[in-house]
Amino acid sequence: MSTVSENLQPVVEDEITIEVTINGSPRSGRAEPRLLLADFLRQQLGLTGTHLGCEHGVCGACTVLIDGEPVRSCLMFAIQARGADITTVEGLDDDGELHPVQQAFHAKHGLQCGFCTPGMVLTCKALLDHNPTPSEPEIRDFLSGNICRCTGYVGIVESVKEAAAAGRGVSPAAPASTTTER
Ligand code: FES
Ligand code: FES
Repeated sequence: MSTVSENLQPVVEDEITIEVTINGSPRSGRAEPRLLLADFLRQQLGLTGTHLGCEHGVCGACTVLIDGEPVRSCLMFAIQARGADITTVEGLDDDGELHPVQQAFHAKHGLQCGFCTPGMVLTCKALLDHNPTPSEPEIRDFLSGNICRCTGYVGIVESVKEAAAAGRGVSPAAPASTTTER
């Protein structure tokens, strides 16, 4: 018969090997079944570009792309991602050249502290992959699940317009205003 102190010991779950494709390369790591994908990426694979803010699905900072779709990695267990094709912010550049969305964020001041930026950039990439010519209302709607605590939404929206224009090979949109209107 077990003692009270034995019953109070935390249950250690067996670790499982998780194999995924991350940023085009096969990767694997060991994780308990309840380890979140965000923690798996950061702790097991060292991909700390995926940020954790709220850790309960509200802020969007932890967004990664799974099979091309934006997903909150704090709401998903790593085990659920087995076999998936994952893109993190570390996988956006092309041999050191920033992705056009990253270039646009740089050009249009789409970031301040940068904490929300990985999630914002990946969400913007997903938007432009699906809709290369989004209207401003469409941009704001698609980004509505990503919170910037620096409130730099005007610059972020201008960055998406810039990236969309660059994708069409035309001049960028009008310059960003300096207000913090969302
Ligand atoms: S950390 Fe995942 S949504 Fe905020
Ligand atoms: S730039 Fe600071 S949270 Fe968005």
